[in-house]
Amino acid sequence: MKNSEIVELLNKDLEGEHAAIIQYLAHGYAMGEGELACEIEAIAREEMRHLDWLAETVTELGGTPSFTRGKMRQGGKTVTAWMKNDVLAEEDAIKMYRDHISLIKDAKIKRLLERILSDEMSHHGDFVGFAKEAADEKMKDLRGVRNDRVTRVLDWGIEHEYTVVIQYLLHSYLAPNEEMRKEMQDQAINEMQHLGWLAEKMVSRGGHPHIEHTKIDSSKKAPKMLDADIKIEKQVAAAYDKAAKEIDDKKVKKLLTRIRDHELYHVKVFNDLKKTL
Ligand SMILES: [Fe+2]
Ligand SMILES: [Fe+2]
Ligand SMILES: [Fe+2]
Repeated sequence: MKNSEIVELLNKDLEGEHAAIIQYLAHGYAMGEGELACEIEAIAREEMRHLDWLAETVTELGGTPSFTRGKMRQGGKTVTAWMKNDVLAEEDAIKMYRDHISLIKDAKIKRLLERILSDEMSHHGDFVGFAKEAADEKMKDLRGVRNDRVTRVLDWGIEHEYTVVIQYLLHSYLAPNEEMRKEMQDQAINEMQHLGWLAEKMVSRGGHPHIEHTKIDSSKKAPKMLDADIKIEKQVAAAYDKAAKEIDDKKVKKLLTRIRDHELYHVKVFNDLKKTL
C-alpha cells in the first residue's frame, strides 16, 4: 500500500474522530454541569488524543491532515437518546478501525490503530452505561430557545473559537519548526477552552449553542499561516472588546474580557513565532 493510500485511510479516521469530538462535546454542554457531563467531556478529550496521533502520522507520511468533519449522529430529544447515538458513533468507529487495521500492513501504524480501537471499545461500554444512567435519572436537554443580543454574541464566539481550534491545529501539523508546532497546539487548546466556556454559558442562559465553524485558512507556507492567524486574532480581540463593553450582564462581560485578553496574548505569540521562521 502506498503512503498516499494510507494517508487517505487515516484521514477518514481523523474525520471520524473530529465528528465524535463535536458530537460528545455538544452532548456534554447540553446537559449542564454534572458528573455525567464531565465523563463525556473526558471521552471527548481521549478522542482529541486520537485525532492528534492520527494527524501526526499523516504528517509523517507526507500527507496533510484532513479537518473535514465526518458524519455526526445528531438528533434525539432526551439525554438517553443522545447516549444511544454516541453508542452508534462508537460502533461506526470500531468498524472503521477494524477495516483499516486489516488493510494496513505497516506494523507501527497497525499498532496505533489497535491502541485507538481498544479505547473505542471501552467508550462503547461507557456510553451503554450512560444511556441507562440518563434514563434512570430522567436527565433533560437543558438547552433553551432564548435568542437575545448576548446569545447572539455567544453563538458568534463559539463559531469563531471552533474555527480557530481547527485552523491552529492544522497549522501546528504543518509548522516548519518545533517551537511553532508546540505553540500552535497550545493556543488551539486555549481556544478549545474558550469554546467550552462560551457554550456552557450559553446553555446556562437558556440558549442553544450551534457548534459550527467557518472556513479555515488554507495557506501552506508558515509566514502566510501566521499572518492569517494574527489577522483573525486582532479582529476577534476587537470584537470581544466591543461586545464586552456593550453587554450589561456582569458575568458575561467578565468572560468576554478574559477571552479578549487571551486573544491579545495570541497576537504576541504569533508575532514572536514569525521571528523563528
Ligand atoms: Fe477515537
Ligand atoms: Fe471513542
Ligand atoms: Fe479564543
